[in-house]
Amino acid sequence: MNTLKIAYTRREDLIPAAEIIKNGGIVAFPTETVYGLGGNALDAGAAKKIYAAKGRPSDNPLIVHLASPADAEKYCVTSELFYKLADAFMPGPITVIMPKKDCIPYSCTGGLDTVGIRVPSNPVAHEFIELCGCPIAAPSANISGKPSPTSFSHIVHDLDGRVDCLIDGGDCEYGVESTIVKFKDENTIQLLRPGAVTVEMLTLICPTVEIDPAVLKKFDGVPLAPGMKYRHYAPSVPLTILDGGDEEVYEYLRSREEKIGVICYDEDMPFISGEKLSCGGKTDSLTQAHRLFSCLRSFDGRDDLDAIYARMPSKDGIGLAVFNRLIKASGFTVIKL
Ligand code: TXA
Ligand code: MG
Repeated sequence: MNTLKIAYTRREDLIPAAEIIKNGGIVAFPTETVYGLGGNALDAGAAKKIYAAKGRPSDNPLIVHLASPADAEKYCVTSELFYKLADAFMPGPITVIMPKKDCIPYSCTGGLDTVGIRVPSNPVAHEFIELCGCPIAAPSANISGKPSPTSFSHIVHDLDGRVDCLIDGGDCEYGVESTIVKFKDENTIQLLRPGAVTVEMLTLICPTVEIDPAVLKKFDGVPLAPGMKYRHYAPSVPLTILDGGDEEVYEYLRSREEKIGVICYDEDMPFISGEKLSCGGKTDSLTQAHRLFSCLRSFDGRDDLDAIYARMPSKDGIGLAVFNRLIKASGFTVIKL
């Protein structure tokens, strides 16, 4: 397939991409979290193309992206708590799961009666959705199981030749996918996936925030977000998380005889020899989130390495999202030092 590439400089640049969507095609576009692979959410055929291009199991539902939270009631059954969250966090990096209306096809929701609604703040995403004139169903624009794409080079690597169009909007601001929430009742939010809208921020809007067990540990039950059951974000070389103080981690890494790569913090760089990448300062969870998937992608396909190690991140604020993606990427392999 010949893939059209668009470098965004102004709204008009997006017109050919919007035409592709109107004709049933699929387009990868930037958002403030990660790049998405979009199609018309009302067109069951577009959802099928998205699953095929990603190699994604079709029981894993797609998020529906809108230009404004005011459009949500056309596609799902909204509630007061939704509008409270929308006032506080939309447009922005949050997805809210609500009962779907009939116009959203089951092929988009993986057969579920609910749909995830998200209103991106990224200006390119916003203009693109507006120009399309329809809701845009979009998962992250990676090949299924691989780290989500946070820069244009990532989507070229994964999707060139597999989709109709790729839009270059530069690097994504946050670098981890949106926070996903569902309502247990009007006073209780369930956190299905942590992101840049943090537990601390959600608690300011709703008194009770319950964290789905699948966020924190290997979970053998059925997670509330079907996607959380898959081994995700994984580089091809096995990844292990090291949970310990500075000296223990440095000593452990020094004692390794195999060829290793390390994802560490700025402060660690002088103390670790061999191949290493910093994902940011030790207490700078925002930068860690921004760089995490690029670090994982740098080590992907490095068959000359035997193992990759990363340090256990903080679980505070957006750190919980970094922790969640890292433990999933490691297949929950943690060594306590
Ligand atoms: O930031 C993001 O959310 C990005 C950008 C492109 O918007 N999208 C994204 O989509 O991360 P995806 O498909 O990679 O992850 C969506 C997650 C999956 O774990 C899926 O199972 C869950 O959301 N999900 C979607 N709809 C759901 C629903 N109705 N009920 C429960 N979980 C749902
Ligand atoms: Mg994804």
